[in-house]
Amino acid sequence: MMKEKIAVLMGGRSLEREVSLSSGQRVCDALTERGYRVLPLDVTPDLVATLRAEKPDAVYIALHGKHGEDGTVQELLEFLGIPYTGPGVAASALAWDKAVSKRLFERAGIPTPPWVTFTADAFKLAGAATALDLVPGAVGGFPVVVKPAEQGSALGLARVDDAAALPDALLSALSYGDTAIVERWIDGVELAVSVLDTGDGPSVLPPVEMVPASGLFDFTAMYTPGETEYYVPARLSDEQLAEVTALAARVHDLLGCERVSRVDMVLGHDDVPYVLEVNTSPGMTETSLLPMAAAAVGIDFQELVESMVRSTLGRTA
Ligand SMILES: Nc1ncnc2c1ncn2[C@@H]1O[C@H](COP(=O)(O)OP(=O)(O)OP(=O)(O)O)[C@@H](O)[C@H]1O
Ligand SMILES: [Mg+2]
Repeated sequence: MMKEKIAVLMGGRSLEREVSLSSGQRVCDALTERGYRVLPLDVTPDLVATLRAEKPDAVYIALHGKHGEDGTVQELLEFLGIPYTGPGVAASALAWDKAVSKRLFERAGIPTPPWVTFTADAFKLAGAATALDLVPGAVGGFPVVVKPAEQGSALGLARVDDAAALPDALLSALSYGDTAIVERWIDGVELAVSVLDTGDGPSVLPPVEMVPASGLFDFTAMYTPGETEYYVPARLSDEQLAEVTALAARVHDLLGCERVSRVDMVLGHDDVPYVLEVNTSPGMTETSLLPMAAAAVGIDFQELVESMVRSTLGRTA
């Protein structure tokens, strides 16, 4: 028996297009295997007309990055009245902007690395470049991480070890968007903690620990099999596991994430779990962290995708 018609949004114009095509293809395969009618859709000027004509029962959003993850597509699907996977408009927008979400973490007492934010206009219109000497004092010294406030897959991200390298790193981050974040580098255990809610309330999956061979979990480390070692669950004490699990649930709730999120953090040598950011459209590629965490509790990829779709089918957008 044929099940519902599911449109899978994949590709798009963001810099993570290739990653999204890879997530999307795997999602399409899983849904086809499970008996759904699957409609793979790229984001083109025909998208709205196609959705109106095809009337899918739900949309699986396999887009990553700008437009797919920042609330744009979510807003459009609400307007069209089509249920979709993943968090709603507000949570997507809050999580996508690291400068905003870090402010919310700080206000809620959730540890996040000390940081400063610069907009391109602060340099162009107000001469912020003359104050870069204040950066180490503001964030607690070098090394720091410089990254675009709105980007994913570590694009535009660099570790900076001294003041001399700061201007170039900022210039590079600002070529990805209007705002750059300079944040203290935290040495410690890198963790991705996924939260999944398929209708019975949020449940936190086992934390995944990443150990990149290069020392930096960058684009290559994320998507090249063998470049990073993964441990599921992370090699933590029971107390630490309990703490990061509770923290992920709190962060998921704070941003108002519904259905799914992946909270990235570093457990510092001071035993503080510093939250870096929240992903609202977690990768579904061969090396992605949400599927890895689900597998650790016996939820295979097909089951993960189907449960995300089923919990969405029940709702009105
Ligand atoms: N302050 C920091 N201290 C130590 N490592 C960091 C810091 N910020 C970023 N990193 C490293 O860079 C990686 C990517 O950073 P982050 O998660 O903030 O960016 P992203 O581009 O949104 O990534 P993605 O969306 O793919 O998860 C992190 O997983 C971590 O390995
Ligand atoms: Mg991340």
